[in-house]
Amino acid sequence: MKGLVFSELMAWAEDVYSPALVDQMIVHSGVPNDGAYTSVGNYPHGEALALLGALADLTGEPVGELARAYGYWLAGRFVTLYPEMVGIYPDAESLLAGVGPHIHEEVTRLYPEAQPPRVQANPLPDGMQLEYASHRPFALLAHGLIEGFVAYFGNRHTIAREDLDPAGTAARFTILQITA
Ligand code: HEM
Repeated sequence: MKGLVFSELMAWAEDVYSPALVDQMIVHSGVPNDGAYTSVGNYPHGEALALLGALADLTGEPVGELARAYGYWLAGRFVTLYPEMVGIYPDAESLLAGVGPHIHEEVTRLYPEAQPPRVQANPLPDGMQLEYASHRPFALLAHGLIEGFVAYFGNRHTIAREDLDPAGTAARFTILQITA
């Protein structure tokens, strides 16, 4: 998985917790090379899970909640890092519908070694469904990313997750407009 996801994970943990806790997380996780990730490199996704697992042990937070919180934060970073990808979308639903056919396609063009997950949108009369499927168990990260983009565009939707696989490799999100 792209080193960017790892380097941002470190930045998020440093931001929310502290540099000292990030050091402890790296040691506790047992990842190689003292957790020195470059954003252009590629690393086994198991190392991200090991880092989140270590953070869960150190903070007492459930690992899934940490993945979700990181995803929420990461959405804001994607807005900053990829303004040309995000900027063409007027609202959350159109961006989320564009992840599969445009954003993750663009990611594979920019980084040929990347393998972004499948994110497929199906319209509903009052919102949309978004299906996530990957060889990696990051449905909670996807949940946080969706929440982060919905917040970025003004929080006008509710989001429900239905897990399609117990390990977290597939989930269906129902994203509905708040009409009240
Ligand atoms: C501007 C918006 C976005 C950008 C620039 C972006 C970019 C990326 C990149 C670079 C990766 C790493 C791929 C790899 O290492 O193979 C990735 C992975 C991922 N993306 Fe996106 N993404 C965006 C939006 C979203 C949204 C809205 C979702 C929600 C469904 C999503 C779900 C994921 C997940 C869960 C992963 C982790 C890897 C996996 O599950 O297989 N992304 N994305």
